[in-house]
Amino acid sequence: EKGTYPHFMLKEIDEQPIVMRKIMKEYQNDNNDLKLDATIRQAMKAADRIYIIAAGTSYHAGLVGKEFIEKLAKIPVEVHVASEFSYNMPLLSEKPLFVFISQSGETADSRAVLVKIKEMGHPALTITNVPGSTLSREADYTLHLHAGPEIAVASTKAYTAQIAVLAILAVDTARAKGIELDFDPMQELAIVANAMEVLTAQKETIEQITRNYLATTRNAFFIGRSTDFNVSLEGALKLKEISYIQAEGFAGGELKHGTIALIEKGTPVIALATQENVNYSIRGNVQEVVARGANAMVISMKGLEQDDDAFVLPQVHELLTPLVSVVPLQLLAYYAALHRDCDVDKPRNLAKSVTVE
Ligand code: F6R
Repeated sequence: EKGTYPHFMLKEIDEQPIVMRKIMKEYQNDNNDLKLDATIRQAMKAADRIYIIAAGTSYHAGLVGKEFIEKLAKIPVEVHVASEFSYNMPLLSEKPLFVFISQSGETADSRAVLVKIKEMGHPALTITNVPGSTLSREADYTLHLHAGPEIAVASTKAYTAQIAVLAILAVDTARAKGIELDFDPMQELAIVANAMEVLTAQKETIEQITRNYLATTRNAFFIGRSTDFNVSLEGALKLKEISYIQAEGFAGGELKHGTIALIEKGTPVIALATQENVNYSIRGNVQEVVARGANAMVISMKGLEQDDDAFVLPQVHELLTPLVSVVPLQLLAYYAALHRDCDVDKPRNLAKSVTVE
């Protein structure tokens, strides 16, 4: 039930800190060790390459998961859009593990891949919010998101839950492989949960930013580099699906290779700057679009902020920045849709779970 909330989406955005704490509890045992099924640990350890298969927002979470698994557990990862995978199946490694990411566990495009790779005899792990779902039943292993029912069509808390569970999975695998890490996922997720609370308390600020940047526009761009690029894809998807503003997320460095031609006077450009190693270059991109008339704003992270940034996120571990940078983007999409009188929870032409290919 919505309770006092006008929309499920807003309620689900607000639930994100609670979901982070729930995941921490569910994936920790009494000795403060990670609690994951030993068979999943074995399957991860045995894989020479991981193939993440997903659609939409879950695909975007997969892009972030790839970073975790490669950087922490040192296993190569490919992330594929489910609907494309079957036509153009890449050459598979000798010991692949397939990881399906799906909030609903019912996405037909993902299931088609699952059926195919099971026929080929490959192991599969499903990460889902619905443990009894088709993708969960048909895979060898399941990890549960523990996000509670997600009702709004636009996915919010499932995305952050997917990223948190992927971080835990990556660390668990790293430890199983004997890799020393100076990254304690539970400690860092606790910081994230607090940061999310700070962010969800800043709705009025985000609503005002929405008025300043997105009030009458027909299009908008989200830019970022590295991890921020992955989140900008999700920011653009959220905005287009519920507010119907045409939005595109792209890599800051790609601007000059074409997209900058679209920048005109007043074009909104939302830039993410949460990564120290690309802070200088993304700000260069912001100057380039401003010089061409863009109405640009920067969402930065504490420690990297500059005076005229529109919004500064609380500081979290640099691997986990997507968990916080996405929150203002979710709220931006929410208010843009609200101000345009769109049906926030049930956008046109969309279904919560897409059970046709
Ligand atoms: C976006 C959205 C969709 C889903 C996609 C996959 O807000 O909701 O893009 O993420 O249809 O759905 P699941 O995760 O249920 O497989």
